[in-house]
Amino acid sequence: MKTTRIIQLLKETESIGINNIVNIKGWVRTKRGNNTVLFINLNDGSIVHGIQVVVDVANFDEQLLKQITTGACLSVEGKLVESMGKGQSVEIQALKIEILGLADAERYPLQKKGHSMEFLRSIAHLRPRTNYFSCVLRIRHAMAFAIHNFFNDKGFVYLHTPIITGSDCEGAGEMFNVTTMDLGNVPKLGNGEVDYSQDFFGKRTHLTVSGQLNGELGAMALGNIYTFGPTFRAENSNTPRHLAEFWMIEPEMAFYELEDNMVLAEEFIKYCVKYALDHNFDDIQFLNDLFDKELIDRLKSILDVQFIRLPYTEAINILQQSGHKFDVPVYWGLDLQAEHERFLVEEHFKKPVIMIDYPKEIKAFYMKQNEDGKTVRAMDILFPKIGEIIGGSQREESLEKLLNVVHERNMNEQELWWYLDTRRFGTAPHSGFGLGFERLLLFVTGMSNIRDVIPFPRTPQNAEF
Ligand code: 4AD
Ligand code: MG
Repeated sequence: MKTTRIIQLLKETESIGINNIVNIKGWVRTKRGNNTVLFINLNDGSIVHGIQVVVDVANFDEQLLKQITTGACLSVEGKLVESMGKGQSVEIQALKIEILGLADAERYPLQKKGHSMEFLRSIAHLRPRTNYFSCVLRIRHAMAFAIHNFFNDKGFVYLHTPIITGSDCEGAGEMFNVTTMDLGNVPKLGNGEVDYSQDFFGKRTHLTVSGQLNGELGAMALGNIYTFGPTFRAENSNTPRHLAEFWMIEPEMAFYELEDNMVLAEEFIKYCVKYALDHNFDDIQFLNDLFDKELIDRLKSILDVQFIRLPYTEAINILQQSGHKFDVPVYWGLDLQAEHERFLVEEHFKKPVIMIDYPKEIKAFYMKQNEDGKTVRAMDILFPKIGEIIGGSQREESLEKLLNVVHERNMNEQELWWYLDTRRFGTAPHSGFGLGFERLLLFVTGMSNIRDVIPFPRTPQNAEF
């Protein structure tokens, strides 16, 4: 018999037909009842709600019923009927039950009681079976889909940039080395330095921190491209907003100036949030009711506001005149900390802020220099509760100016020959940005720790599962 998914039973009840016989397969969330009747809540992951299976004890083998415990996997054939019980519209009257997989009640860690997020992280292989995490994973899927839709509809080309690279796009040196050398016996040059010419690629390589440099090459040929892939940062930040492995979306557009870049980024975030409200409302409602009573309002309110455009220098003035006591004192040139960003977004403007024109010293080498000689055409989008969700800029298209920065920063010009070629041959104004996928998910799900919006988080001292 064909298996029906629970989402269909609940959402397409009419077309399936009350009193028809159906087969469902899923995992037991709860089992309760007495000597005559049992109620089993079965969940198959298709929707946050499970379906109630009603078991007339007299019709089944006692031994079989005993073996049905929380976490066990069942195949149930039964009649779809309207439910008398509260909280559900339909239920299944069981006719046949087959146990596909037992779950030892002594050892299965997800018994009914509420669990802390910390505990659930320690069983990341099983947490998708909780309601909260299955909601997050369905939303995560929908957001990935929305992102491809958004750019595809606009005619952007999805460009696959390499994961293994020899360059450090952000220049922060936060990279994981990639090597096949025997670390106990590394070949050395006469001067004691490692001889990377003997390594797999014949040069020093890392996991990418960003696909942008390759993305720019794509934009200089295809016009508009985007990347969507894993990126890696070996920064030792144990915060609720940093991962060592995270997913980033990086669009790059030829002929876009900073203003066009901001318009696109704002439209993009709003599209994703609206997509989640339109397609994942059950999941969002569940998370709203369980964790974050303001989630739905917060998501809706974002759709109606225009993000504030704020030059960095003005932000410094606001912070200095606020009278607020910050842990890190504010001065022009400071790389703003979470406390400053949160003050601006959550207390001062109470809206998302796009901060632009940052001091060049605190931003990456590729950003377009402003006429003032001090600032660059950077833009960071700051969000309530999240802080920085997007980082981007207009790019420096002048070879001469770019080379100056490369030299000022003691970067290796030879290593960057291919990137610099874009400025040698048919250079053009262009811009782009990077959206941290998990930061977007923090916003959309209302979760407070980034470890809880990715299936298997990688953070300092943690690469389990
Ligand atoms: O600001 P970032 O470092 O910018 C870039 O990498 C540029 N190359 C992007 C571009 O212009 N194409 O990172 C972009 C975004 C941040 O705003 C943040 O949302 C996210 O990536 N991000 C992280 N997310 C999780 N864990 C980390 N360790 C992150 N580092 C950055
Ligand atoms: Mg940034």
